[in-house]
Amino acid sequence: MSVHSSASVKRITTHILQEMKNRGEKISMLTAYDFSMAKIVDDAGIDIILVGDSASNVMAGHETTLPITLDQMIYHASSVVRAVNRAFVVVDIPFGSYQGNSTEALRSAIRIMKESGAHAIKVEGGAEIKESVVRILSAGVPVMGHLGLTPQSIYKFGTYSVRAKEESEAQKLLEDAKILEECGCFAIVLEKIPAKLAKKVAETVSIPVIGIGAGGDVDGQVLVVHDLLGITQEFKPRFLRQYADLQSIMLEAFGNYIKDVKNRDFPNEKESY
Ligand code: KIV
Repeated sequence: MSVHSSASVKRITTHILQEMKNRGEKISMLTAYDFSMAKIVDDAGIDIILVGDSASNVMAGHETTLPITLDQMIYHASSVVRAVNRAFVVVDIPFGSYQGNSTEALRSAIRIMKESGAHAIKVEGGAEIKESVVRILSAGVPVMGHLGLTPQSIYKFGTYSVRAKEESEAQKLLEDAKILEECGCFAIVLEKIPAKLAKKVAETVSIPVIGIGAGGDVDGQVLVVHDLLGITQEFKPRFLRQYADLQSIMLEAFGNYIKDVKNRDFPNEKESY
């Protein structure tokens, strides 16, 4: 094992993530929302598990991330935390639980940390949520930022297309990244922005920058685990690399089970008491 690797690390921390950026070791991050999946993802050696509010889409079948509640996020997060030995667990504060004011933001962050046992929270936005970010950080809660395509603002954007292609939006995104760094965030997610801009952000700020649809010149990558596994087949953005076709495997397995039950082949004598 190389000395320039976090593979031997027993527990990933914000400090280790920063060291990884400093020495150029890429950070791996995936979502998980339940105990069984989180256990496999952690056993595989992932650095960060994100209990994303994409649970709203993937687990609950909503069209957007907006409906998921703080209680539901805490339920998912505590299931994940129970499974994890090594990964750093970050939880999205859901829409409507931090935008109102910094007191509400702090209360939501504290509930997540206290009730789920997670290690950090993630918020979407820059300058407009600065006060909340500062307040949460001052309570000792690590904060991950999220800029670019921020799905909680989907009705403002109108589409899920690439963000910050225009100079003014690119400039604001860079400024927001600097603000999040100055506030003390330990990392920033950049979603669906031009690779050139993402590279500039990663070079400008000293904290780790994790991309999704933001090219390869950032400090790490994140994907939604169900997309990577091919469980969800409807969502095929250009940035997604599908590493398995679990939907086909599952359909075949379920089909075989149904057939065996109908044919009275299952259970057989060995499978009975
Ligand atoms: O909720 C989520 O899964 C996310 C990732 C796409 C970064 O925020």
